[in-house]
Order: sequence, then structure tokens, then C-alpha cells
Amino acid sequence: MEVLSVPLGERSYDIQIGTGNLAAVGAFIASRRATSHAAVVTDENVRDPHAAVVLESLRLADIRAEMRVLPPGESTKSVAQAQGLWQWLLDINADRKSVVVAVGGGVIGDLAGFAAATFARGLDFVQVPTTLLAHVDSSVGGKVAINLPGAKNMVGAFWQPRGVLIDTAVLETLPEREFRAGLAEVVKYGVILDAEFFDYLEKHVREIETRDPAVLRHLILRSCQLKANIVAADEREETGLRSVLNYGHTFCHAIEALTGYDRFLHGEAVAIGMVCASRLAERLGRIGGEITRRQVELLRVLGLPVDLPELDRQEFVAAMQRDKKVEHGKLRFVLPSRMGHVDLVGGVASDDVFSVLND
Ligand code: NAD
Ligand code: GLY
Repeated sequence: MEVLSVPLGERSYDIQIGTGNLAAVGAFIASRRATSHAAVVTDENVRDPHAAVVLESLRLADIRAEMRVLPPGESTKSVAQAQGLWQWLLDINADRKSVVVAVGGGVIGDLAGFAAATFARGLDFVQVPTTLLAHVDSSVGGKVAINLPGAKNMVGAFWQPRGVLIDTAVLETLPEREFRAGLAEVVKYGVILDAEFFDYLEKHVREIETRDPAVLRHLILRSCQLKANIVAADEREETGLRSVLNYGHTFCHAIEALTGYDRFLHGEAVAIGMVCASRLAERLGRIGGEITRRQVELLRVLGLPVDLPELDRQEFVAAMQRDKKVEHGKLRFVLPSRMGHVDLVGGVASDDVFSVLND
């Protein structure tokens, strides 16, 4: 079992990464926070067996636990479900000594974290992520949010968890497509921060495909380590450093918006977006073709899409303008300058963007 720290002063917390450690979540929470009451939030696909194990483990640690089971899917990250959670927390007499425990993918983590951030001006919460995407990205860093119609993650907060417990064994029940989508974010860390990690991924494709526990633990550990370093240096995305995590996401968000959020999983759109961003970097003379070629090959072999779908190019650029990195109407992109390094680049001409879209 490995334990990483996210060093954020009084908001510091641990990420515990193991295989088969889910049943120890009660002890994990009890050792970090004196509490006798937990509000567990999960979804219908995760309740059995994973959330049930968490519930039992809390009871064994003498923590009274109640559970709310929500429908799976992105539409659960809504104002209505947030309101439902606030009301439920009121009904079960949650107070500032209670702990919210999010057991699920990024949808449950973001929603339960948002409810925790806002109920009674803030409850402690613990993340127990159950998708690969949530293991390597959404459970770490304290971004919590719900969606408004047509505006993803528009209402939210920075609210750090008190701890993150990752059990790679929960991935055994994760559907193949969801697993592959999570791998896109893993590849992202290699491109933006760690060339050696990218090499490692290229060399361990077979073990990744068979979900070899040791290789998975390494993937998750390294991804969390890289994300924790960035979050520690720029918790609230104020210096531009944290925005490197959004590599590929300007294109990705436009792809998701123009395809109604239901054609591609987020990680699939990230894969296509990374290839677009890399091609843009090539066009601007920042990198040679080799770096794009390596990403395309690795993403393809991991079963991820890399080709931009047929979409209206004008609408695409308009959708990109709604990206959170836009400043005074100017598009900014996270672009590689070599494998393992990216910069936030402003002032990119629309002609260059169009040319990438038309490639
Ligand atoms: P998700 O939470 O919708 O989970 C994907 C599907 O897998 C769901 O149907 C879920 O019920 C199911 N599932 C989860 N764990 C399972 C398991 N172990 N076995 C079987 N089925 C399981 O999606 P996701 O990809 O985990 O997260 C996507 C969300 O995360 C988006 O809303 C995105 O905005 C958010 N996100 C947040 C951050 C952040 O920093 N907060 C970062 C990236 C993404
Ligand atoms: N997923 C991007 C971030 O946490 O900043």
C-alpha cells in the first residue's frame, strides 16, 4: 500500500493507494477525523458491491452510516440532485461533525463534494473513487461542481477532501469503455509532465489491457503524484500552472458540447483533443511530428479515438470561445514544447486553429 500526501498546509491530506483496501475505509476515516456519523453518497452501479463494503466498514469503525443512492450518469450532477442531497443531509441530522463519503466516479465525487462544500457552510468529505478517471484525476485536487443546463461544471467550489482512498480492485467491475476513457487522462500526465512515464506506458500496453494490479497501481500512483504536485503549487488555478492539466481540454470541451455530451465519454474526447492540441503545436513550430505520432499510436493501441468527428468548424471555434481559459475573448491553449512539457500559449490565430480542424 502506498500513501501520498497533497501538501496544502492545514488542508493537507493523504491519498492511500492499494489493492483490496476498500474494507479498511472506516479505519482510514477514523484515523483522520474524529466522527461518529457518515453520509455515504453513491450511484446505482456502485452500490453493490463497493458502497456496501464501505458502509459495513464504517459500521465496524463505530461510525453511524447512512447512504443515498443516486441514478448513474452526468445528468445526476444537477441543481435538483444537489438540492436533494442538501435536504437529505438535513433529514439525517448531518452537522459539522459529520463526514460526507463519496463512493463512485467523478459524477458522484463532484456532486457529493459540492454538497459537502455548501451544506452548513462546509462539511468534511472523503473521496472513495471507483473509476479509473476518478482514481487519477477527479478525486484529487478539490474541484467540486454541478452542471447548469448547457454549462458543465458551472457552479462549484474548491473544497479539498480530508482524504482519498483508492482501491484498484474496484476497477474489476468497471466496464471496458469507461476503463479506456480513464487511460486518456493517464496518457495526458505523461505528455504534460513526465516523458519517462509516457515511455513506461508505451512499454506496458499489454499489462494495462489486462489490468495487471501492479501496473495499475503504478499508473495511478504516478498520476496522483503528478497531479498532487501541481495542486500543491497552484491550488486554485491562479498562476496558470494548474491549467496544464487541461491539455487537450479546449478542443475536448467543444467536441463534447457539439456532440450533445452523449457521443463520447469525457476521456475519449480528451484523447481527440490532445491530438488536436499537439497538431496545433506542430503547426506553430513548437514541436516536430514525432511527438504527435507517439500520442496517436499510444492512444490508438489503448483503444481510444484520435480522429476529430465531422462537425461544423465555425460552431466548433465558437464553442472553444466558451472555454474557461479564454481571457478577454482570446483563445489560449495548453501546448507541448517537448514530450513531458507544456506551456499555456495565448494569441493563437484562428487561421491556425482552423487549419488543425481541417487537417
Ligand atoms: P461517472 O462517475 O459517470 O462513472 C462512469 C460510469 O461508471 C457510471 O455509469 C458509474 O455508475 C459507473 N461506475 C463507476 N464505478 C464503477 C465500478 N467500479 N464498477 C462498475 N461501474 C462503475 O464518470 P467518471 O468518468 O468517473 O467521471 C466523469 C465526471 O468527472 C464528469 O462529470 C467530469 O466533469 C468530472 N471530472 C471532474 C474532475 C475534477 O477535478 N473534479 C476532473 C475530471 C473529471
Ligand atoms: N481536472 C483538472 C483539474 O483538476 O484542475
